[in-house]
Amino acid sequence: MRVENLDGWQRTHLSTELGAHCLAQEVVLMGWVLRRRDHGGVIFVDLRDRRGLIQVVFNPQHSPQAHEKAHALRPEWVIAVRGVVRMRPDDSVNPEMETGTIEVFVDELKILNRSEPPPFPLDVDEAPTDVIRYKYRYLDLRRETGARKGLLVRHRVLSTVRDFLNREDFVDIETPFLTTSTPEGARDYLVPSRVNPGSFYALPQSPQIFKQLLMVAGFERYYQIVRCFRDEDLRADRQPEFTQIDLETSFLEETQLFDIIERMTARIFKEVMGMELAIPFPRLPYDEAMGRFGVDKPDTRFGLELVEISDTVRETGFGVFRSALLSGGIVKALRIEKGDRLSRKDLDDLRDFAAIYGGKGVAYARIKDGGEWQSPIAKHLSSEELSGINRAVGAGAGDVVLFGADSPQVVNDVLGNLRTNLAAKLGEVPSDQYRFLWVTEFPMFEYDADEKRYKSMHHPFTSPRDEDLEKIESQPELVKARAYDLVLNGAEIGGGSVRIHRSDIQRKVFTALDIGPEEAEEKFGFLLEALRYGAPPHAGIALGVDRLLAIMTGSESIRDVIAFPKTQKATCPLTGAPAPVGPEQLKELGLRIAKK
Ligand code: AMO
Ligand code: AMP
Repeated sequence: MRVENLDGWQRTHLSTELGAHCLAQEVVLMGWVLRRRDHGGVIFVDLRDRRGLIQVVFNPQHSPQAHEKAHALRPEWVIAVRGVVRMRPDDSVNPEMETGTIEVFVDELKILNRSEPPPFPLDVDEAPTDVIRYKYRYLDLRRETGARKGLLVRHRVLSTVRDFLNREDFVDIETPFLTTSTPEGARDYLVPSRVNPGSFYALPQSPQIFKQLLMVAGFERYYQIVRCFRDEDLRADRQPEFTQIDLETSFLEETQLFDIIERMTARIFKEVMGMELAIPFPRLPYDEAMGRFGVDKPDTRFGLELVEISDTVRETGFGVFRSALLSGGIVKALRIEKGDRLSRKDLDDLRDFAAIYGGKGVAYARIKDGGEWQSPIAKHLSSEELSGINRAVGAGAGDVVLFGADSPQVVNDVLGNLRTNLAAKLGEVPSDQYRFLWVTEFPMFEYDADEKRYKSMHHPFTSPRDEDLEKIESQPELVKARAYDLVLNGAEIGGGSVRIHRSDIQRKVFTALDIGPEEAEEKFGFLLEALRYGAPPHAGIALGVDRLLAIMTGSESIRDVIAFPKTQKATCPLTGAPAPVGPEQLKELGLRIAKK
């Protein structure tokens, strides 16, 4: 069948613009053949364009020529039709289809291009395997569901963000991609320089330093929707390149910045989801988050809070609890109502669950009438201890209580993860709720036992609280940072801080991080210098666009909101990246590949 040109044909409508209000109108439609059905001589084609689907009908008596051509149509051929809109007969109305009450009765058909049979069907809901999907992403994106929807939502979210920030007097400024290392704690992607053999650019892990320099430059309100690059181990919520809504402000403190982000988020949800978010968002100090939820990004769509019972069992004879407490650890409990939802096997399997997080076990008790315990550990605990624990956790008949005893970190890891895991398993996570919260007052430093030194919990430009300045050298572990995370449904979707704007404090922090004056000068000398030229107090934040969108669209992975994502191994099955390069190119760059 001959392929034709447009020859001056112009599309009059998109599929979903048609409806009962267009009856008897002549229209020209263009798009792809989703499927073709032959019914006793009449041919029906579902035509797909960027908006959706419409049924077009070829009748051999009415237009023999078009009907003849329509015989050849196969899935994904590209066509244009001219015809007249009419109602479908009652018995062929399709309520599933937006245009399901009408059809276009075709007078003329142009075949604009043929298609090879696609490697997977596009007219069914199931997705093909990941490798195939990403290899043929351009076909995967034709499918109505999945990533296509994600990208359309993404567009609306980002337009709303731009519009909001522009109105709030923020200036969109681009910062370099070919730069030097930025300290966000991941590995850098390096780019060799041809003109400076042996030297490398680093792709930015974030525009952090540049946005601070823009504050020194007096812009006061900067934003950028910007790609960031981090060479990390990938997971469902991590890609080697991802997008931030990055912003920085001068002369504002936490509360005022929170207000901007809260109003921006509320606008997004209103415009895109038609939902009213309650603002301001709740604020939770880091210590309280760890205490109640065991994690610094709690999912607050459900209860199941942890309760520390160290004091209740301080003098206990039960070895597991006692040895944990004696070595500076803690004991925490997690109470689950209607404990019969957990079988004996579920409870015994908790030991393996604990092992994932370095725990040695999870003790459990079933609470019977009168608060009595059915538990392998009951015999080790006095009756005062048993009733003390019941009181502390509010245990009643029918509950199951789980216990972790270990270092605070292990207990929180085990029970914090168990909390989300059990909530999902027991169906207690409402999927239609969006619970935002700010986690504040993070520790400034965390100790890296392997490297035997302190590291920044956020990044080294984060300001300590004024009242903690004295402790930077003497007790770094007690210093709290003016850092904050934005958390949504248990995911960290943003992070930021009030920055250090004085070079003397910046130097002190570098010292605490064991970054000596020379190293500081070499890595961030330009920033330290800039801070000496009238740097205003400034604060900022970056939101992870991909994570926010994955949650808004109910996607399991951020790949579903990214047009051309990478696989778990940071490869692109479509383009074949990363790929070896030829000897010429290597030579030009002064590089040689070491033999493994
Ligand atoms: P941070 O490192 O916390 O802060 O990053 C901000 C947000 O970016 C998202 N994010 C990611 N998303 C997908 N894949 C990744 N590999 C990935 N890594 C991070 C997260 C995270 O909350 N410069 C600071 C911000 C600031 O202080 O203003 C920064 O980059 O949602
Ligand atoms: P044991 O006396 O070692 O058999 O342990 C008694 C119970 O305590 C078992 O249910 C173990 O799973 C549990 N258990 C062991 N280690 C810990 C721990 N660190 N925290 C909480 N429970 C534990």
